[in-house]
Amino acid sequence: MSSQIDHLLNESRQFPPSPEFVAQTIDDPALYERAAADREGFWGEQARELLHWHKPFTEVLDWTNPPFAKWFGDGELNVAYNCLDRHVEAGIGDRVAIHWEGEPGDSRSITYAELTDEVKRTANVLAGLGVGHGDRVAIYLPMIPEAVISMLAVARLGAIHSVVFGGFSADSLRSRIDDAGAKVVITADGGYRKGKVSALKPAVDQSLADRNGEGEQQTVEHVLVVKRGGNDVDWTEGRDIWWHDVVPAASADHEAQAFPSENPLYILYTSGTTGKPKGILHTSGGYLTQAAYTHKYVFDLHPETDVYWCTADIGWVTGHSYVAYGPLANGATQLMYEGTPETPHPGRWWELIQKYGVTILYTAPTAIRSFMKIGRQVPNEFDLSSLRVLGSVGEPINPEAWMWYREVIGGGKAPIVDTWWQTETGGIMVSPLPGITAAKPGSAQVPLPGISIDVVDEQGKEVESGNGGLLAITKPWPAMLRGVWGDPERFKETYWEKFEEQGFYFAGDGARLDEDGDLWLLGRVDDVMHVSGHRLSTAEIESSLVAHEATAEAAVVGASDETTGQAVVAFVILKESFLAEHTPEGLATQLRGWVGEQIGPIARPRDVYIVGELPKTRSGKIMRRLLRDVAEGREVGDTTTLADTAVMSIISAQVK
Ligand code: WT7
Repeated sequence: MSSQIDHLLNESRQFPPSPEFVAQTIDDPALYERAAADREGFWGEQARELLHWHKPFTEVLDWTNPPFAKWFGDGELNVAYNCLDRHVEAGIGDRVAIHWEGEPGDSRSITYAELTDEVKRTANVLAGLGVGHGDRVAIYLPMIPEAVISMLAVARLGAIHSVVFGGFSADSLRSRIDDAGAKVVITADGGYRKGKVSALKPAVDQSLADRNGEGEQQTVEHVLVVKRGGNDVDWTEGRDIWWHDVVPAASADHEAQAFPSENPLYILYTSGTTGKPKGILHTSGGYLTQAAYTHKYVFDLHPETDVYWCTADIGWVTGHSYVAYGPLANGATQLMYEGTPETPHPGRWWELIQKYGVTILYTAPTAIRSFMKIGRQVPNEFDLSSLRVLGSVGEPINPEAWMWYREVIGGGKAPIVDTWWQTETGGIMVSPLPGITAAKPGSAQVPLPGISIDVVDEQGKEVESGNGGLLAITKPWPAMLRGVWGDPERFKETYWEKFEEQGFYFAGDGARLDEDGDLWLLGRVDDVMHVSGHRLSTAEIESSLVAHEATAEAAVVGASDETTGQAVVAFVILKESFLAEHTPEGLATQLRGWVGEQIGPIARPRDVYIVGELPKTRSGKIMRRLLRDVAEGREVGDTTTLADTAVMSIISAQVK
């Protein structure tokens, strides 16, 4: 089967940064030149410039045993020291590290000096519970400062954290605790979501119960519990400890010890195509270098004046690299928000931006599209003029949403950076630099200085410009995953076998290089369709559908078809204002015609189903596999990873 993905949609608008933006930016075209001239030398420079090394490294990269890389291998550092103590020592201890806003409206501002003390106390508590170098600690917390404090305290001890998203069930938590062999779990009684307390402790209790099965072993010795929700909790004496009983009383003296650059920092589980989640392993020096470097240049960070806000939960990699490690390593001031965007009113995010004067906003296309669905009158009520850089991550952002983001949120002037990366890459890989790049709506554009990426065919050969193919990372990078926890074979198989000969990393994404050399992400390769011999991208057709004035959101799948092999089937959510004035049948016909005109007859959907919801994972990714089941009239498969498991029965009913 050919790996070429046919590209049909054209987008030619370009938005260079304004002269005012260019005048103040830290982005420098010389970065590209220096990195191209000496890639490893460039990364060595970044590592020395951005981090403090207790013991300087002499070798940048050891790639003698691929795919197992060592970055800055003989250097030593302490990740938490880099995010905390050194800022205090440099005299910026009074700078706010985290402005935290709880969903009910309570708030805390924590300076670097205070955060450093808290982390030291917590590190002392964890050490007292027996946590040391190499031990695993599971963190199952809401979006409260203690989540970041816990991560840094674990890192400070040279131990390994495994953050589990608070929305995951007891079963998911259990398999992650067991796979990592966690010694301690840090959790809370509950956290605020959608106006009420959502309990967390019962899931921890349940996940730790009944370990009598074959091969099962209870590794957890203690559960440290933050009081946040104020809800009642069951208590296991001897095992459970209240955070407030031990952390404030602990000593704030704790000297950060140096650990080797390749010391494991964290495991983060991500769903694979097959059942068992993969524990993606990241290590210290290379990871922190790339997190700090990308956070600085991709967002044009001015740490003295910027107020940065990444809306991702700490349970995802975006929360690790761009809430915890990148911003703190750079001494940035950031906003952290506990709750949901619509609580207690649909303008909550915009109110927060106004209240804190947020200058950099980093969020996901799924959020932007849900705001589009409600309409611009909501953000228009707030003063968003402080915003100067906007970021997007997690899926392709369709040009329609990109334009809305720029105009309605960015006041028609803030540059947008569409950042492509993965849990596995640890940090941003492809993105415009806002002070340099003329941005194109919908394109992630170019690999960052120091990153090598190609679009290749099934054989690993570069495709001609204008053509689609597979995204491959052709050179090792500092924040790359170092393995799958406990499963080196799976690591090699999943990411390195496909282009073994070339030594490329296979990202699993389809992409296209346009005539200017800009990258367009076309979605996961598993999601492409084959229609009458053409390989079509879900992302392009979805983008076309959403460009229609009636559409709020769209998901496209390929369903088997007798004549065309596969046929395009679209599931579409309409904007509320259009539902009132049109029939679903009329709109479905209009939309089929629209895609046919915009992209070409080959892409015209066979069916357009108007639905009220789309099936999404908790991180907002559309589960096309389930929609394929519906489109092909099958029983709907495993829905356990859906954010809302009821959605599929509603969609099935609507389609019937
Ligand atoms: C997959 C990785 C990266 C942190 C959040 C997601 C898709 C991510 C983009 C983008 C198009 C994107 C890819 C990638 N993706 N960013 N800017 N444009 N697609 O991390 O859960 O590991 O998912 O998300 O398909 O492979 P993740």
